[in-house]
Amino acid sequence: MKDVLAKIKKEFLKLPKEIYKHYLPDKIENSYHQFRWLLAFGKVVCPEYRFHWPQLDWWYNQEFTDYLVRFNEEHSMNTFKRWNLLQYLKQVTTVEGDTVECGSYTGASSFLILKRNLQSSYPKKHFIFDSFEGLSEPEEVDGDHWSKNDLVTTEQELVKNIKEFEGGYKMFKGWIPTHFEKVAKKKFSFLHIDVDLYQPTFDSIVFFYPRMNSGGIIICDDYGFSACPGATKAIDEFMHDKPEELFLPASGTCVIVKK
Ligand SMILES: C[S@@+](CC[C@H](N)C(=O)[O-])C[C@H]1O[C@@H](n2cnc3c(N)ncnc32)[C@H](O)[C@@H]1O
Repeated sequence: MKDVLAKIKKEFLKLPKEIYKHYLPDKIENSYHQFRWLLAFGKVVCPEYRFHWPQLDWWYNQEFTDYLVRFNEEHSMNTFKRWNLLQYLKQVTTVEGDTVECGSYTGASSFLILKRNLQSSYPKKHFIFDSFEGLSEPEEVDGDHWSKNDLVTTEQELVKNIKEFEGGYKMFKGWIPTHFEKVAKKKFSFLHIDVDLYQPTFDSIVFFYPRMNSGGIIICDDYGFSACPGATKAIDEFMHDKPEELFLPASGTCVIVKK
């Protein structure tokens, strides 16, 4: 313990005294020394972890913070992905077509989609597909990260969390792709795939890709995460002969803008 503390102190002293101070926003500038300690602590205790700039404007966006608090994600690692999701949704405001999410869990991402749909230039219905029994059975390609029924929630929990958007969405309970045919005639402007595993990710992109309007956006939330190798493989396999280039943001996920 003494050793660790000594190492942290050494790292603390190595950190340039002024540089961070000048870059930090007011809220953190006031606790500048605590921030320096945090960086030093991180470097010793978890050297592979990289800190993010806390000077980003969106960290202090009140509406967005309220959203995070509502879903208990204020200090979650999802914050970057949530902010990015909002930005992708803005890009499809003027694209015709409904929206869809494969894997909704308790509704944090569907909430953002539904909220943005209200500001769209076109009327948009949001379609939600989830087993409400958690994940399906992982296969070899998914590695050893998940078990069947992980991430289980109830329909009631989802409905409670998106209650203000009643009428704006339709929910299908069941294993993907059981109910996909029910929306076979629809066209889409936004698809959010977030099912963690190879097979449901593959089934989702196979079914919805041809139904995306030009300029529509597909997000695979799990792409590029070491805990979701199957999801990454499913997208790579399907997209390898398609004309769209994958956009891979630093926050993880992949973004496909349909040509
Ligand atoms: C990571 S959570 C989704 C998180 C949510 N999109 C969010 O951002 O808060 C994964 C969801 O996918 C659902 N799911 C996973 N595999 C599925 C499958 N084969 N069929 C239907 N739903 C599935 C689970 O029930 C779970 O709710």
